[in-house]
Amino acid sequence: MSVKLTWLGHACWKIDNTKSTLLIDPFLSGNPVAPITAEQIKPDFILVSHGHGDHLGDTVNIAKRTGATVLSNFEIASYCEGQGCKAHPLHIGGSRAFPFGRLKLTIAHHGSSFPDGRYAGNPAGFLITIGKTKIYDAGDTGLFYDMKLIGEEGIDIALLPIGDNFTMGPEDAVRAAKLLKPKVMIPMHYNTFELIAQDSKSFASQMKKALPRTKVVLLKPGESFSI
Ligand code: NI
Ligand code: MN
Repeated sequence: MSVKLTWLGHACWKIDNTKSTLLIDPFLSGNPVAPITAEQIKPDFILVSHGHGDHLGDTVNIAKRTGATVLSNFEIASYCEGQGCKAHPLHIGGSRAFPFGRLKLTIAHHGSSFPDGRYAGNPAGFLITIGKTKIYDAGDTGLFYDMKLIGEEGIDIALLPIGDNFTMGPEDAVRAAKLLKPKVMIPMHYNTFELIAQDSKSFASQMKKALPRTKVVLLKPGESFSI
């Protein structure tokens, strides 16, 4: 089963397989690098890593328009249900089989509140298994040593933030990749705003030196990678 990942800028990903379309952290409205609008997408599931506006984004509008099911922690799933969306709650360490495959919530070291300041539970990352392909989306996080445990699951594709300031920067993302040992690593959460501007080519060459066996894929918003 082939899996196609499309970067929609920042931390927003569209993942297509034969069965479903997944949308992760749909920050499209107000995202200066988004290649599409929130009206142009029709996901079956929307995964939300935490409550910050640049991740929760257009979740409620897209879910209400399309009938997509929101998959997130209990607090965010309950909030979305309260807004009239379909949602399924999970929490850190918990996994469940869905029509597309299996989703597990992993820890992330970050904050999580809704744009109005209300508590949105703990932030999370995602381990997504589609067929034999394992994708780890770290969400917004700093480096943590338990990435070694996540790496033990056998990661095909790691989506890691490199923007610095709010999340890991490039140096810590290289250290994260050393713990995760993914076959492919794609950086995200950079170059959306000046505050998280990074030189992705220099990051790729640091990665090549440190982890020659991991393939670094640099995408522009709107571009895809298939495995
Ligand atoms: Ni955040
Ligand atoms: Mn963020």
